[in-house]
Amino acid sequence: MKISIISGSHRVNSQSEKVARYVQQTLEDRQLCEETWLFTLAENPLPLWDESIWEADPQWQKRLQPLSEQLASSDALVVVSPEWHGQVPAGLKNFFLMWGKGEVAHKPALIVTVSSGDGGAYPVAELRMSSYKNNRICYIPEQVIVRNVESVLNASPADNNLAADEYFRARFAYALGILKEYAVALRQVRASGATDTGTFKNGM
Ligand SMILES: Cc1cc2nc3c(=O)[nH]c(=O)nc-3n(C[C@H](O)[C@H](O)[C@H](O)COP(=O)(O)O)c2cc1C
Repeated sequence: MKISIISGSHRVNSQSEKVARYVQQTLEDRQLCEETWLFTLAENPLPLWDESIWEADPQWQKRLQPLSEQLASSDALVVVSPEWHGQVPAGLKNFFLMWGKGEVAHKPALIVTVSSGDGGAYPVAELRMSSYKNNRICYIPEQVIVRNVESVLNASPADNNLAADEYFRARFAYALGILKEYAVALRQVRASGATDTGTFKNGM
């Protein structure tokens, strides 16, 4: 079992990356999977999608192949997105344009959103509405909205609001446990042959 975590903030030292690293550590500590892979868009941005991707441009292939392999060998994903101007960052939406070969198809994903204040609902709605159609990622019904993120999940207890921190640690354990069970269950769906894309390559 391999679970990959995508940190969707392209800001260095972002709170999203802090949360993504916490998720990775939790998966490992709780032995919810044998392997994890964390990809952060900070200092690692992908250029904007362009049509040469479809023409097997060697530069794009070199750039995307390692990521494609990591995603294809994953059983589940955690997508961490900050709320920026009430949106998912453009770099994360761009990331979702790249995966047309079934790398994430019919694999469960937990949405985690991050806000320094009381936000975080908009990126949940946006991801559920418009980031899955052709790549066919399966967002599970559970989600985690990390509000007032600066005051939780910090390494030093002195930096945390203790009640909120305790709540989010318990909530993550709960949500990641559910994600793991979906990962087990959806293996069967992919193995069934019913998800073949020979006739209907793209979603409607
Ligand atoms: C360009 C930009 C726009 C932002 N807009 C919002 C917003 O609309 N709602 C919100 O709750 N927080 C907003 N924030 C604050 C983020 O919630 C905060 O930076 C938080 O740490 C998550 O972003 P990060 O992962 O990049 O650190 C914004 C931050 C940036 C950099």
